[in-house]
Formats: sequence, C-alpha cells, structure tokens
Amino acid sequence: MKLASRITRLGTETAFEVLAEVNELRSRGKDIIALSIGEPACATAPHIKQAAKDALDRDLTHYSPSGGIAELRSAAAVYVSRSRGIPVDPAEVVVVPGGKPIIFFSILACVEEGDEVVYPLPGYPIYESMINFVGATPVPLRLREEKRFSFDIGELRSKITDRTRMIIVNSPHNPTGGVIPKNDLHEIAELALEHDIWVLSDEIYSRIIYEGKAESISQFPGMKERTIILDGHSKTYAMTGWRVGYGVMPRELAAHVTRLMTNSNSCTATFTQYAALAALEGPQDSVDTIVEEFRKNRDLIVRGLNAIEGFHCHTPAGAFYAYPNVTEACRKHGFRDSRQLQQFLLHHAGVAVLGQQCFGTRLPGDDQEYIRLSYVSSVSDLQEALRRIREALADAQRLKAFFKEQEDRDLVRQ
Ligand SMILES: Cc1ncc(COP(=O)(O)O)c(C=O)c1O
Repeated sequence: MKLASRITRLGTETAFEVLAEVNELRSRGKDIIALSIGEPACATAPHIKQAAKDALDRDLTHYSPSGGIAELRSAAAVYVSRSRGIPVDPAEVVVVPGGKPIIFFSILACVEEGDEVVYPLPGYPIYESMINFVGATPVPLRLREEKRFSFDIGELRSKITDRTRMIIVNSPHNPTGGVIPKNDLHEIAELALEHDIWVLSDEIYSRIIYEGKAESISQFPGMKERTIILDGHSKTYAMTGWRVGYGVMPRELAAHVTRLMTNSNSCTATFTQYAALAALEGPQDSVDTIVEEFRKNRDLIVRGLNAIEGFHCHTPAGAFYAYPNVTEACRKHGFRDSRQLQQFLLHHAGVAVLGQQCFGTRLPGDDQEYIRLSYVSSVSDLQEALRRIREALADAQRLKAFFKEQEDRDLVRQ
C-alpha cells in the first residue's frame, strides 16, 4: 500500500528507542544504569496524586473543553504572567497532553510548506522532525561549546531570509543544559520583530535553573504577539507519564490550536488536568527540593566526567543534562563516533547514555563528538555509572571484545 510522502519525513526521539533497548536488556537480567531518558526519577508529589484521586472519585472522567478546564487555564495564565512578567489571559492558554504537542501544533498552524524554520543544533529532535514533516526547510543554528552552548548572533542573522517563518529557542536547553543570556534573547527578539517571524520558545525547563532566573523572550516589547511559550508539568513536577502541558500564544492562534486539539485528542485527560491544577496552585517545595538535588548531582557528575581521560564537560546552568565533549576519548579508543561510544557503554559498561546523533543531523565539517547524560538518578547510581564508564574505557579486553562484535556485525551486513 502507498503511504503519504509526509510520513516518511517524520523523524523520532531516539531516547525512546534506547529506553526500549534498556528495558529489553533488563528483562534479560542485565544490570543497566539508565542516564538516557530525560525525566526526574522522583515520584510525583503526594498532593498532586491526591488531587487526581479526588477528581476520579468526583467522576471528573468525562470530556473537558478541548483547550482545557477553565480553572487550569486561569492558573497557568496567572503563573506565566507572574514568572515571565507579561499579562496573560486564560484565552491565550491551551492545555495539551504534554509539552510536545505544542511543538506539533504550533508548527502545523504557523509554518507553510517551503518556509524556513531556524532551530538549535544540537537540539530536541522533535523540532527537526516536525519541520520536515510539514514540508518546511530546517535551518540549523549551531550552539557553540565555547559560548557555553549559546549561539553566535551574527550567524543567526545570516540565516534569516524572506522565507524564515519561525525561530525556535529552547532555554534552559536540552541536551546541553545551556541557558541563553537575556541580551541574546533580546537580539533574537529584534530580528523576529524586524522580519515578522514567529518564535516558539520552549521553556519546559524554566524552573530547573541553577544560577538566577530563566528569562523568556516573550518579555520584550512586541514579542508576546509573536511568541508561543511551551511549558508543562513533565519536568518541573516529575509528571512525565501524566501527559499534561500547555502553550501560551496569541488568542487567535490559541483558537486554531484548540481546534487542532478537537481534531486530534478531543481534550487532555480531565482528572490529569485537576492534578496539574493542584501542582500549579499547591506547595512548591517539591520543585525547590528537586532543583537542589539536581544541583548536587550536576556538580558530582561534571567533576566525575572531567576526571575521565578524553572527556571535557562544561557545568550546565539549567535542565538536568551533562553534555561532555568526548572527541578525544573517541579518537583515543577508536570509536568511530559518539553513537559507537553509546553502544559500548550500554553493552560493556551497563550505562545508557545518548550520543549526539540523537539531537539532530550532523553539519558538514562538524568533527566534535558529544554524549548526553541525564543526572536525575540517585547519587549512588551516578557514582556507580561514573565508575563503570571509567573502568570500561580502561579495560583493553572489553574494548577488544566490542570492536570484534562490531566487525562481525559489519561482516554479516555485507
Ligand atoms: C526541550 C524539550 N521540549 C519538550 C519536551 C516534551 O515534554 P513532554 O514530555 O511534556 O511532552 C521535552 C522532553 O524531553 C524537552 O526536552
């Protein structure tokens, strides 16, 4: 049967494939420490779970309005107004199942076939996937390690053409943990205003920041009218499996995105929305606690990674990922690229990480290798993972066995 060509352009998030591989290895009794998936390891706070249970007991199990229950849209409007310093009306909020649908819907609603969309590279893979899916041209903007994974504004300026329809910013950033300085956001805002461009501002990690406060591009004059803020509960409240997030956008766009919700999901699960309301309105100490925990984990993992020969790791300013440069380690041990290192660490060290190929297409001339480690596990798991990585890379027998397996696999493929 013939498939629509657009479906072949849709990418994926390989973190989920690695997760499946980890689960498969574990089901065969292998001991794997998974630093691959981006979700807080702690449980959702009890008062949030209780709100969901209460909602179930009150039979709040039917359809809700497609854009979300009024109470949650109001609470999100109040929260975003306060945290970003902009006025937000509940009619500008659309509640969706997770943060991801806001990427899907805003690109579907704002970007035409043949348009160009500038997005961060490395970056969350769904940006590139969705840009390709709608038939637009992905225009990667390289994040520079020497700028603590921010970008060069001159380079951004050179990427803007009369076809540029959208710029995607993500700060704090997945996978690097970089935070875009306020001045740089201001420069992006000026470009967006000058060239009449939408900005999709992915602020899902805005509460997970270690120095100061996350700034939103929506705060600059004229920007609220052209910015779609993506936020949600997955990371902040350890609610990845609940599937609840929201977008804040101009009222007219919110009406279209709400129609996309009606056409796709009908609504976000109703009792989940009541839990999300309790999260926004209830005590925030669980958020402060996880950020403090992540800060300790960050310091431990950065120190540990920098002690491994051939690894160089910046201290991330936000999110919960370390993104060491492993180019020297790859060269020293003979790994073709970070994907091979990822495979070695999974099968011969029992540690799951993600190679840079999971975060976008490699640009010509880019010869640096990185891996991403999510540092949300317990201190003892992180210490053990670091020990395993160090020991595996120092073990000539294990390296030899790995390269032999690779050779055999290549022979079978030929
Ligand atoms: C940058 C970024 N945006 C959006 C999302 C999607 O979040 P959710 O799980 O709420 O859909 C993620 C999840 O990893 C992310 O890292």
